[in-house]
Amino acid sequence: MGGDIYGEPGLLVLEKRFPAFKEREGIDFAVINGENAANGFGILERDAERIFSAGIDVITGGNHTLEKREVWPFLSTEPRMLRPANYPRPGILLPPDTAGTCSYAPGVGFGIFSAADCQIAVLNLQGRESMQPVDCPFAAAEAYLKEAAEAGAFLLVDFHAESNEEKEALGLFLAGRAAAVCGTHTHVQTADERVLPGGTAYITDLGMTGPADSVIGSAADTAVRRNITQVPYKMEPSGNEAVIQGVVIGIDAVSGKAGEIRRVVWPSLKKRGSL
Ligand SMILES: [Fe+2]
Ligand SMILES: [Fe+2]
Repeated sequence: MGGDIYGEPGLLVLEKRFPAFKEREGIDFAVINGENAANGFGILERDAERIFSAGIDVITGGNHTLEKREVWPFLSTEPRMLRPANYPRPGILLPPDTAGTCSYAPGVGFGIFSAADCQIAVLNLQGRESMQPVDCPFAAAEAYLKEAAEAGAFLLVDFHAESNEEKEALGLFLAGRAAAVCGTHTHVQTADERVLPGGTAYITDLGMTGPADSVIGSAADTAVRRNITQVPYKMEPSGNEAVIQGVVIGIDAVSGKAGEIRRVVWPSLKKRGSL
């Protein structure tokens, strides 16, 4: 599972590096968050097509996924592209769709896919702490866990959230019941990857697939200027060298339990420059 793709640098590094990485690692099924693929904000159909062509099976999303209105029809018809499942379903509170206005968020947040003789369910959820007041992610997880179990599928969760506390709580809530719970959204990879009791691979944040020397993906000069002046200068992706960040998870095909999780930064930048 991979962290948020940020702009053209993120798309390019995925296209350049991921096919060989997937082959080398023997990856059967790949999920990546694409909410920032469109120049840092949202995702377009053409971005999604490039991501699928690079070998990704499912694209998850987050608070930026619905930003580009042009993507709404694609989101509504492409089952391999998800947005968080716990967006409100207002039902009778709003009339049916009128002139392009949706009575609920376009797209879905859950799907069941086949790979390596397994049924794999992917669930995308969004957190509520310091974010939009979406529906309860825990209640949504419980409902979709049941749906996955009824289909004989094991469950991978992308929990797109700001709060470490909320992410760990969901991880432990699903420990032993989901195969993996991986956080996204902060664009900063955490070093707490582990297999939770009962065989659930967990990491608080997968990080980012995008420019390494940047401020969560954007050019440092603009980000620094924004911070100093408090003026909302437009953020643009940094042109610096990009990396893929995420985890490789080993899951038993029969039990659906995770046996290992390994954190990845590819290519590694640890040996850059001279000491
Ligand atoms: Fe993001
Ligand atoms: Fe986000």
